[in-house]
Amino acid sequence: MEDRSTRGLTRAASLATSWRDARCGDLSAAWTGRRVKLAGWVHRVRDLGGVLFVQLRDRGGRVQLAFGPDWCDADLIARARELGAEDVVQVEGEVVGRPPEAVNPEMATGAVEVHVDGLRMLSRAAALPILVAGVDEAPPAEELRLRHRVLDLRRPQMIRNFEVRHAAVAGAREALSEEGFVEVETPLLTRRTPEGARDYLVPSRVNPGEFYALPQSPQLYKQLLMVAGFDRYFQIARCLRDEDLRADRQPEFTQVDVEMAFVGVDDVLGVCERMLGRMWSRAVGVEIELPFPRISHAEALERYGTDKPDLRVDWELGDFTELLTGAGFGIFDAAAEAGGRVRGLIVRGGGALSRAEIGGLDDLARQNGAKGVIWLRAGEAWSGPIAKYVSDGIGQALRETYGVAEGDLLLLVAGPDSETRGALAALRREAASRVGAVDATAHRWLWVVDFPLFEPDPDTGAPIAAHHPFTMPLDADPDRIREDPFAVTALAYDVVYNGVELASGSIRCHDAEIQRAILEVLGFERQEAERRFGFLLEAFRYGAPPHGGYALGLDRTIALMVGAPSLRDVIAFPKTTAARGLMEGTPSAVEPQDLAGLHIQLCEDD
Ligand code: AMO
Repeated sequence: MEDRSTRGLTRAASLATSWRDARCGDLSAAWTGRRVKLAGWVHRVRDLGGVLFVQLRDRGGRVQLAFGPDWCDADLIARARELGAEDVVQVEGEVVGRPPEAVNPEMATGAVEVHVDGLRMLSRAAALPILVAGVDEAPPAEELRLRHRVLDLRRPQMIRNFEVRHAAVAGAREALSEEGFVEVETPLLTRRTPEGARDYLVPSRVNPGEFYALPQSPQLYKQLLMVAGFDRYFQIARCLRDEDLRADRQPEFTQVDVEMAFVGVDDVLGVCERMLGRMWSRAVGVEIELPFPRISHAEALERYGTDKPDLRVDWELGDFTELLTGAGFGIFDAAAEAGGRVRGLIVRGGGALSRAEIGGLDDLARQNGAKGVIWLRAGEAWSGPIAKYVSDGIGQALRETYGVAEGDLLLLVAGPDSETRGALAALRREAASRVGAVDATAHRWLWVVDFPLFEPDPDTGAPIAAHHPFTMPLDADPDRIREDPFAVTALAYDVVYNGVELASGSIRCHDAEIQRAILEVLGFERQEAERRFGFLLEAFRYGAPPHGGYALGLDRTIALMVGAPSLRDVIAFPKTTAARGLMEGTPSAVEPQDLAGLHIQLCEDD
């Protein structure tokens, strides 16, 4: 093992260039007495009258430079006094141990300082629009950060995010390479891929009136590589989706995209788990416990109301229909008569929530599709809008059968499951964070498996693909797919980590007949299917191996690894929620002659 005290010396040797001997952050007591040449940005200047202290910063960290009359001439001190934040300088001097009372335990290099005797200005910085603050300081407003992204990226926390990202990608590459995967790039100028969002289109100059689509994922190409016999493929793939953006969505994002031939669900899940394990240990030193538990999609909805449950909270939903109907609660009776249920959630310790907070939960339930929430507080007596209906028998059953304890709050939502589950899932999430029931240090992984092949379109009720149209059904019978599409289970799976969907995949349909039946149910007439996916269907005719794979959302993964609130903190040059690049000014208008060259004419605004 390398000695900790000399680690900086060894690392510095490999980073030395003609401009510098080490990175600022490498200096330690082991350097004491050495002459050193450093280069970097002026982080802070502190003028104590006699001695001038400057913190010099580069990617490796910060070190204190000292300019004092004992080792600097008057001209050097005068020039040092001119230094301003973010100037780029090169310095030379001697590394000196600080006296014990001056050691700064907050700084990695706090045991030493450099007594500078040579200073060279490399590039002066103009007045700064935002401060390049340290990790300990609050970041500037996000719009300013995005507008001045280069300065924002200089903040040490941002650089760390990208180091973690790099290590995570290296871990994925390593793990997959060791298991025989080969990295292949697939086209960016392509046809539409049906991943549920709109496509970005690119006009073809040499083929007037025709357009490429930017890929929403490499889905069809990776399947074609399996038909081509590549066996095990991966790609760190850029995906582009023109969809409504949120904190966890970007129009341009990255997937670790994986596909394998001659595999079943267990094989794919194993590869994905080992890849995630390596990524986590390599990037943040966390050993993930493998294998992940699995639950079916139906069970996830029943127990948690969502297919992305956060298992850091162990509360599960309960069915209170039998207990609470026929007891005088009109709303519950009506819901049950209409075929719905009364489902509920026991918020442990939720009795302490105020009326206003409970009112907030009611709003949340409404925003998430329910007609509202009815609450019951378990104190010495029951309280809440329906407390008067709670007979001794009901009270006893709530306590003994359902486990409601004094100090708990029972939240009840009545209606069809399709209306209540989203509300209950949102209530579970929100109430848990309100009462502090989420263990922020926990890592809770889970596979959600056995998704339905189709789900109803929320607007029309027509079948749409729950994952994507290339997923293999569990029961591979084309007639059954056509006759009863909603009853078909898919060989599809998602990785959920602390309530966030990180990866998604499936065993694919490698049979042209089954694929055709699926496309038919989705409303693609034979000709339309041929036109759009003919190249895939054709490839299937010439010998297609059974295959399957998955894609991991890399940006989401890194955001969770580093605890970033938004994907924008782990993407170097991200877009705003209005899909704009504020730094470079994208999108932007183009000259009419450029459009004419692309055979495009803009419509006049109405
Ligand atoms: P899917 O569309 O579920 O599957 O995407 C896989 C993972 O990619 C991430 N993701 C996103 N991240 C940031 N911004 C976005 N707009 C965005 N959209 C998706 C999520 C998601 O779990 N071709 C299939 C995979 C397969 O079947 O192999 C696909 O793309 O973390």
